[in-house]
Amino acid sequence: MTAFLSHAVTRLVPVPLRVVSAVADTAETATIVLERSAGGPIAPGTPGQFNMLYPFGIGEAAISLSGDSADGSRLVHTVRAVGAVSAAIGRLRPGQVLGVRGPFGIGWPIDRARGRDVVLVAGGIGLAPLRPVIYAVLRDRAAFGRLLVLYGARQSSDLLYRDELAQWQARSDLELFVTLDQADAAWTGRVGFVTALLPQLRFQRGNAVVMACGPEVMMRATANALIPTGVRGEAIFVSMERNMKCAAGLCGHCQFGPHFVCKDGPVFPYARVRDLLTAREI
Ligand SMILES: Cc1cc2nc3c(=O)[nH]c(=O)nc-3n(C[C@H](O)[C@H](O)[C@H](O)COP(=O)(O)OP(=O)(O)OC[C@H]3O[C@@H](n4cnc5c(N)ncnc54)[C@H](O)[C@@H]3O)c2cc1C
Ligand code: FES
Repeated sequence: MTAFLSHAVTRLVPVPLRVVSAVADTAETATIVLERSAGGPIAPGTPGQFNMLYPFGIGEAAISLSGDSADGSRLVHTVRAVGAVSAAIGRLRPGQVLGVRGPFGIGWPIDRARGRDVVLVAGGIGLAPLRPVIYAVLRDRAAFGRLLVLYGARQSSDLLYRDELAQWQARSDLELFVTLDQADAAWTGRVGFVTALLPQLRFQRGNAVVMACGPEVMMRATANALIPTGVRGEAIFVSMERNMKCAAGLCGHCQFGPHFVCKDGPVFPYARVRDLLTAREI
């Protein structure tokens, strides 16, 4: 009974956690690291899950885990300032306190990807929820086939995790493809939408798991580019964004057709949400 109550409380009442570091990734985006005590009320979560973050007195926003889930001592979130809550999270400094509820939802199908090629397709801030998958695959590298990471950003100043991108680029067991919508003077890499890279990639199309996160139009284009080339719709997973309130399957704010994004997702097999994604309004 006590365990049940404590579980219910951490789902509905924010727990104050201290900020240990706050680093600006870009002009709009910051990565916040929160201290998590071993056995504390907020579990470390799994790749693809999210927490509700509450800058006190301002409001809550759903923000994905972006750190290594195997590191139970801290919670990492990468936040792009688009409104009052996300901007307030981005202004936090070490020593300040943030309210946290979670973790919530069903994340990426890491176990299902074992023994298969893993293809990650990230657009913009969508790299943040996929970064924990990269850590999980690299930690148990021999258990997976090839690891391909496709990352598209609008311009070079929007690129997240620059130091890590350079480290991933240098590895022989991870194939990283970065592309920008618009080149600038400093950019000598690929230009064009991330989905344009898909047809030419070589991987086991019948034995791969694809995980895509970014704008809905990008996730749809990913599936449209891959399915005709032999990737099954059941092997493509997408992470959906909808307005969250309770995050616990109680209020219906996140309803997406017959699904609640907070508890049935945010990660869904593309085959399950394809028809909903083609609708303009649900
Ligand atoms: C499961 C889940 C995981 C998420 N993970 C992350 C994450 O890791 N990092 C992150 O930064 N965000 C993430 N989001 C998105 C975040 O929850 C929303 O952007 C949230 O609305 C921000 O709250 P706000 O009060 O700052 O802005 P709001 O007041 O809600 O929005 C302000 C304005 O920005 C627009 N807007 C809202 N969201 C977006 C968006 N994503 N892109 C462009 N414009 C937008 C709105 O239409 C509105 O006009 C996630 C959402 C979900 C559902
Ligand atoms: S946010 Fe309340 S049911 Fe999903």
